[in-house]
Amino acid sequence: MRFPAHFLDDIRSRIPISDVVGARVPWDKRKSQPQRGDYWACCPFHGEKTPSFHADNRRGRYHCFGCGVSGDHFTFLVEQEGLSFPEAVERLAGDAGLAMPERDPEAEKRDAQRASLYDVMEAAAAWFEAELQNADGATARAYLRDRGLTPEIQKRFRIGYAPAGRNGLKSFLAERKFDHRQIVEAGLLVAGDDIPVSYDRFRDRVIFPIGDLRGRIIAFGGRALSADVPAKYLNSPDTPLFHKGQVLFNGQEARAASRKGGPVVAVEGYTDTIACVVAGFEATVAPLGTALTEDQLRLLWQMSDEPVLCFDGDAAGLKAAFRAVDLAMPALKPGRSLRFAILPAGADPDDLIRNEGKAAFADVLGRARSLFDMLWTRETENQSADTPERRAGIEAELRRAVATVGDVSVRRHYETALRERMVAAFGQPSGFQKGQGGGWNGTKNQASLRGAKQVVPSQSLLSNRLVRNRVDVNEPSVADAILIGCLVCHPQIAGERIERLAEAELLPPLLVRLTETMALVHADMPDVDFGSLRAALERAGQGEILSKVLNKLRQSGLGNIGPGGDPERAAAIWDDAAHLRFAAASLSSDRQAAAEALGRDGDECYLERLRDIQDQEQRRFLADNNEELETASVVHPFKEQSR
Ligand code: UTP
Ligand code: MN
Repeated sequence: MRFPAHFLDDIRSRIPISDVVGARVPWDKRKSQPQRGDYWACCPFHGEKTPSFHADNRRGRYHCFGCGVSGDHFTFLVEQEGLSFPEAVERLAGDAGLAMPERDPEAEKRDAQRASLYDVMEAAAAWFEAELQNADGATARAYLRDRGLTPEIQKRFRIGYAPAGRNGLKSFLAERKFDHRQIVEAGLLVAGDDIPVSYDRFRDRVIFPIGDLRGRIIAFGGRALSADVPAKYLNSPDTPLFHKGQVLFNGQEARAASRKGGPVVAVEGYTDTIACVVAGFEATVAPLGTALTEDQLRLLWQMSDEPVLCFDGDAAGLKAAFRAVDLAMPALKPGRSLRFAILPAGADPDDLIRNEGKAAFADVLGRARSLFDMLWTRETENQSADTPERRAGIEAELRRAVATVGDVSVRRHYETALRERMVAAFGQPSGFQKGQGGGWNGTKNQASLRGAKQVVPSQSLLSNRLVRNRVDVNEPSVADAILIGCLVCHPQIAGERIERLAEAELLPPLLVRLTETMALVHADMPDVDFGSLRAALERAGQGEILSKVLNKLRQSGLGNIGPGGDPERAAAIWDDAAHLRFAAASLSSDRQAAAEALGRDGDECYLERLRDIQDQEQRRFLADNNEELETASVVHPFKEQSR
């Protein structure tokens, strides 16, 4: 049955999540802080020796930083004790002293209808399977045998056969007391106002059942046995259970297989999927007769950070591959991409494996190309680049594509890669300018330079010691330590400051990772405190860099702005440090040295400015001057940059 949301909320607010979990799982006494409703344990969902399972009473949720499970009161009982959802609700309602709500007959009817649609589909699948073994199924069995789809494979994929008649399935399901309306709703009959007598949709076809991620059958794909039938494949229409753009064939099996570590592969067809799975590439899926959709891409990324998409090497296949490039670019994330395996023209994985064996297919996968490579190929292959204008044209196209990358950090790396590739290919420096989000040299930067002079250290200071200092990429600068450290020590001031940091695109990669991890923890635990945040960062492998940041923060000479310090003061210092750093970072290229010097150790000028903040009068003075600085467009270039 369906429960009203407020009823579930009521239960969650009456029972601390720590009671539900704590009944089964012993808390780690050292790490937990009961007075804050903050509990840690060794995760009951995966084996571990140090506690990374966190329950937060204020949010009423649990999350394991080791294996990634999370949920609430009810999911815990469902996943851990094997209760059904209604049982979990009933149990906890009892504990909370709440009466179960009145039933909502309308909602229940809808649920029941959905439930029985699954039953209809399941019954149909079983019937198709049985039909394959009947006398009528002989041709289909021969067809499958010729394609190398053995009886074991047929069983594993529940392959069936829809006989040629118009009423076989219809009368079978009617006998089983399924409603005519439901059989239509399940997409199994062709019916409509202009069709006097409804009839079976799938006729004289080999049937491939399509399951959802829980393995329930939600659709069928039907393969014609002969070539003279109009549609080679006929699929179920969209139904309440099935939305073709949101499902991957073999999704459930592939997801399970991906956990065991095999490569996640997407191919084009049913038979390709089956051939790959049988050849040992068990985490293989296919979209359902359409180009890959955004939803399907998301499903792939849930299984793997770098799924491999396979395409036929002919023109149509390449076109599909390039479409996938465009689809993926806006959704790329650090570490999350796609690879492209291009098969010999005119071959699909099924053909390749059958003709040349699985090693040939493994070889194709092994030579899969990066997304960046595909993009480069698309824009440069068969293009002549023999004049500056043509090269500029190619570059413009590439830049347009790179600009669609949503993630700032990935985009920056794409810009760098592009710059390098252009130089390598055309033997000339491109117009891309470092630190400017791919912008061109231009007059705008000259203007910002004038306005920014006030916060740049004097030339003499820059030219002697600092500029010649090497930047150590493994060692955070004091400036960066302040920008990150203040937010780690005082999570309550982090909020949009984390976003400003990310948008400013000025941290070295090591710190970008740290900042992004911090943002993720905040997203999951908005009220996280220093202790839990630090623990979470350490578990995410960020412990070492974090220690360096905290050390540098202590050495900054700014007094105690660490965990014990005053958050408001830390916030003020952060805002001023950010102002200095961001403004400097938006200078044009000939001032890059100045910007970098601001981010480097030993910059007296920089620290001096921050120490001033300790003086209230000075702070007020700075605040008054801020307006002037802003009108002089010191801040605006940064805002433009983060467009
Ligand atoms: P293909 O035409 O490449 O077929 O279509 P295939 O997978 O190699 O099939 P076989 O080997 O000839 O049996 C690729 C996929 O496109 C969808 C199906 O999902 C198919 O697996 N398709 C194709 C349709 O939905 N309808 C069609 O008429 C053809
Ligand atoms: Mn094929």
